[in-house]
Amino acid sequence: MATPPGPAGAPAGFDLRALLAARGTEGYALHSRHLNPQLPRMLRTLGFDRVYERAEGAYFWDDEGREYLDMLAGFGVMGLGRHHPVVRRALHDVLDAGLADLTRFDCQPLPGLLAERLLAHSPHLDRVFFGNSGTEAVETALKFARCATGRPRVLYCDHAFHGLTCGSLSVNGERGFRDGFAPLLPDTAVPLGDLAALERELARGDVAALVVEPIQGKGVHAAPPGYLRAARELLHRHRAVLIADEVQTGLGRTGDFWAHDHEPGAEPDLICVAKALSGGYVPVGATLGKEWIFRKVYSSMDRVLVHSASFGSNAQAMAAGLAVLCVIEDEDLAGRARATGGLLRERLAALVERYEFLHEVRGRGLMIGIEFGRPRSLGLRTRWNMLQAARPGLFAQLVVGPLLHRHRILTQVSGDRLEVIKLIPPLTIGEPEVDRFVTAFTAVMDEAHAGSGLIWDFGRTLVGQALARH
Ligand SMILES: Cc1ncc(COP(=O)(O)O)c(C=O)c1O
Repeated sequence: MATPPGPAGAPAGFDLRALLAARGTEGYALHSRHLNPQLPRMLRTLGFDRVYERAEGAYFWDDEGREYLDMLAGFGVMGLGRHHPVVRRALHDVLDAGLADLTRFDCQPLPGLLAERLLAHSPHLDRVFFGNSGTEAVETALKFARCATGRPRVLYCDHAFHGLTCGSLSVNGERGFRDGFAPLLPDTAVPLGDLAALERELARGDVAALVVEPIQGKGVHAAPPGYLRAARELLHRHRAVLIADEVQTGLGRTGDFWAHDHEPGAEPDLICVAKALSGGYVPVGATLGKEWIFRKVYSSMDRVLVHSASFGSNAQAMAAGLAVLCVIEDEDLAGRARATGGLLRERLAALVERYEFLHEVRGRGLMIGIEFGRPRSLGLRTRWNMLQAARPGLFAQLVVGPLLHRHRILTQVSGDRLEVIKLIPPLTIGEPEVDRFVTAFTAVMDEAHAGSGLIWDFGRTLVGQALARH
C-alpha cells in the first residue's frame, strides 16, 4: 500500500531534503505555534530574526547569502567550529559501521576509549560517567558527591550557572532562573573566591561538595589565583569534595585543556564536561571522578544501574567525542585559543583608554568578557543613566545589536541585566577574525561615543520596550 501523503504538503515517506525544500521557510511560524513562543518574539524585538541556512567553521550564511562571523559558538558547543571535517567523517564512519550500539548487555569499546582519552588529561582521576548534556553531567556530580560523602548540602557560588534541571538549578546563583521552581535541593551560595565563607559553611558538617566554574560564564569572572586549590584543601579537611564544572571552560577554551589546569594542584574530585565534546553534533555529557567516589555509588552488583542514562555512551556521541579530542590535540586548539585570545584581549584592552563606556576586558584564552560602565562626561552619562533607569544591560545590547545588524557578527550579552558582552568563538578562529571583530567593535564604539546615530535610535526603541514591560 502506498504511504499516505505527509501533513501539510510534506512528501510521502521521509525525505529530509524535500521536507526542507517544502517547508524550510516556516521556522519562525512553527516556533511561534508549537515551541517556546518567547524565542521568536525576543528575536523579532531585537531585529535578530534572520534565517540562517548554511554554516562552516566560524561562519554562517543567511537566506540572502550574507556571511556572518560567529563569536558565540552555539553557547560554546561549537568549539571546533561548525562541520569540522574530522568529526563529520567520524560520524559517517560510525553510522556506516552498523554497530550493535546500546544493547545494554555488553561493553562496547568506544565509551572505554573516550574515557581513557579524557582521563589522560586528568591523571588524578580514574573513572567517567557518560550522560547527554551539561546539566546531566552536573546532576551526576551532585548525586555522586552526596552519595560518596553521605551528606545532603551542596555549596555553589553567587552568579553560578550549572544547567537548568532541578539539581543543577539548586546550585544556580541567579534568582531569575530559580523563581517558580522551588523547592529545590538544600544548598547555599558562597561568594566566588571567599574562603572564609566556605569554611563557615563547611563547619556545619553537612556539606557534600562545592561546585564551581573555574571561570564563571555569567560575566566572565575567574576564580582568584589559588582559590581552587585552597578550596579543595578546605573541603577535604571537612570530608567534602570539589566539583569543577568545565562544561563551558573545558576542552581548550581558556588556553589549557581544563580551565583549572591554570592553577597547579587544583585537582578537583569531580569534573563535568559537555558542550564542545559533542563536536557540535551529538549531545553528550561526561563526569570524571575519583575511584573512591565511583565505588561508593556503584558499591555492589545490585547497584549497577543506580545511576545510568538510556542514551549514555551511545556510539555516535562517543565517536564524535573521540574525534573532537583528536582534533584538539592535532590542531593544538588550546594553544591557539591562548594565542588568538591573547591577541584579541590585548587589542580590545587597548581601546579602554579611548572609550569612556568601555571599562574592562578580561578572561582567558577564547573566553572573553567586555565590560561597559558609566562614562565620565556629562552628555554620555545622561544617555547611560537613561538606559540604566529603563533596564540594566541595555547598553551592552546596544552594542550587540549593530555588531549583528551592520557588521554581521553574532555575540551575546553575558547574562540578564549585565553590561558585559561575552565572546566565546570557535577555537579555530585566527587573526582575520580578530581583525574583523576589533574593526567592527571600534566602529560601534565610535558611534556610541558620538552620542548620535542608529545605535541610539535602537536604544530609544529598547528603552520604550523595557518601560512597556514594567
Ligand atoms: C558552566 C555550565 N554548566 C552547565 C551548563 C548546562 O549545560 P547544558 O545546557 O548542556 O545542560 C552550562 C550551559 O551553558 C554551563 O555553561
